[in-house]
Amino acid sequence: ALSHGAGPFIAAIDQGTTSSRCIVFDRDGRIVSVDQKEHEQIFPKPGWVEHDAAEIWTNVQDVVAGAIAKAGITRDDIKAIGITNQRETTLLWDKNTGEPVYNAIVWQDTRTDALCKELGRNVGQDRFRRETGLPLASYFAGPKARWLLDNVDGLAERAERGDILFGTMDSWVIWNLTGGVNGGVHVTDVTNASRTLLMNLHEMQWDERICASIGVPMQMLPEIRSSAEVYGEVKGGKLGDLLGGIPVASALGDQQAALFGQTCFGEGEAKSTYGTGTFMLMNTGDKIINSYSGLLTTVGYQIGDQDPVYALEGSIAVTGSLVQWMRDQMGLISTAAEIETLALTVEDNGGAYFVPAFSGLFAPYWRSDARGVLAGLTRYVTKAHLARAVLEATAWQTREITDAMTKDSGVELAALKVDGGMTSNNLLMQTLSDFLDAPVVRPMVAETTCLGAAYAAGLAVGFWPDTDALRANWRRAAEWTPRMDADKRDREYKNWLKAVERTMGWLE
Ligand code: G3P
Repeated sequence: ALSHGAGPFIAAIDQGTTSSRCIVFDRDGRIVSVDQKEHEQIFPKPGWVEHDAAEIWTNVQDVVAGAIAKAGITRDDIKAIGITNQRETTLLWDKNTGEPVYNAIVWQDTRTDALCKELGRNVGQDRFRRETGLPLASYFAGPKARWLLDNVDGLAERAERGDILFGTMDSWVIWNLTGGVNGGVHVTDVTNASRTLLMNLHEMQWDERICASIGVPMQMLPEIRSSAEVYGEVKGGKLGDLLGGIPVASALGDQQAALFGQTCFGEGEAKSTYGTGTFMLMNTGDKIINSYSGLLTTVGYQIGDQDPVYALEGSIAVTGSLVQWMRDQMGLISTAAEIETLALTVEDNGGAYFVPAFSGLFAPYWRSDARGVLAGLTRYVTKAHLARAVLEATAWQTREITDAMTKDSGVELAALKVDGGMTSNNLLMQTLSDFLDAPVVRPMVAETTCLGAAYAAGLAVGFWPDTDALRANWRRAAEWTPRMDADKRDREYKNWLKAVERTMGWLE
């Protein structure tokens, strides 16, 4: 049995890129139970990545039921359910049947590269940056929806008729949780909406002119709501019996949820999450800061009817997924954890640098045409050196982001708060501290994504009184401090940047 105090509890669903999970938390923000299920990664062509949304919904229901069972609790013990999700991944479904019209197009997918280039020529990069905070890149949702409308037979007419709904995974999960075809609520939150290239960042509403220029009919878009409020109640489906009537009370993109879970509620506070990709977000308060260094301007969160809080973001597409690729596609390791033990068998990278531009390069470059490069190879290099290069790729990419953050915000990095699966890798955390030349700090609960969604839902239903109560739960678990010689760091950084240059222009 698990040790936890008496209820009540909050349940959080994290619909992530590689798996869906549900975690039940108690009032101290401690984990009571976890259940998790992976879903299939579908790679139909180079650069394309899809998910089966029906499989995802089945998994979500299973993990919620699983986490409740493991906790040994009942509906009466749960005060609310919060949602967090992989962002940008785009789905269109039929509102009359509940059937997806095509697989979900995943955020890592680059098929809209040409479309984005065309929009850049016709409408101009600047306009998108100004109104949405985002560069035109294949990463974001709006152009993915347009691709579906152009490429699925008869879909454009069905959408014009009002039969088709658009959603990122938050919308898909909430619509299904709250009844689906029987009155499901079609909403999204400000953080997820801020990743579509369709929302006006100043007004927090869909931008009519931008929707028209991308070619997305507004009638299929969900209503934009705050990140912490009751959207509806659990109804029908497999979970109807188990959790019927429980309020669905938060939605946050996973990276924003991690910002919330790390309790970065003050301006200038930042976190970096190491999952499939890596995403660093800095709270910029009520200020919309335009980036001149390749960062995104995005929404951090909005609690109920309070003012929205903005953030600057550095997004890295491939970090943890590079380790998975080494395991699944290359077969060089048999478990993800082995990357560390293998890397520890050698002193350094042996001269090898690995730039995993598998989805193009995100921040600070935004080049959908970039492709991965392994540079500096000689006969000397072994798979252990490659394992080092894999870990160093994550650390150097983070360094490029923190450099950009410093430029845009004028604030030197004092310490980096980290979380996510890869932070259990000690060698990576030490390398990160070395390359950043700053301390790296990890909290007790590294599952900050689910925690953030639980916090937001708990605030919405009065389970926690305010954000101060949440801050009191944050506890430091580990810290790494820099040990690297400055000259060596500079030399290595130069080599890394040289390797980055080699990735550009592969598709020209
Ligand atoms: O923007 C993509 C991000 O939300 C995905 O996060 O943790 O599922 O890789 P993760």
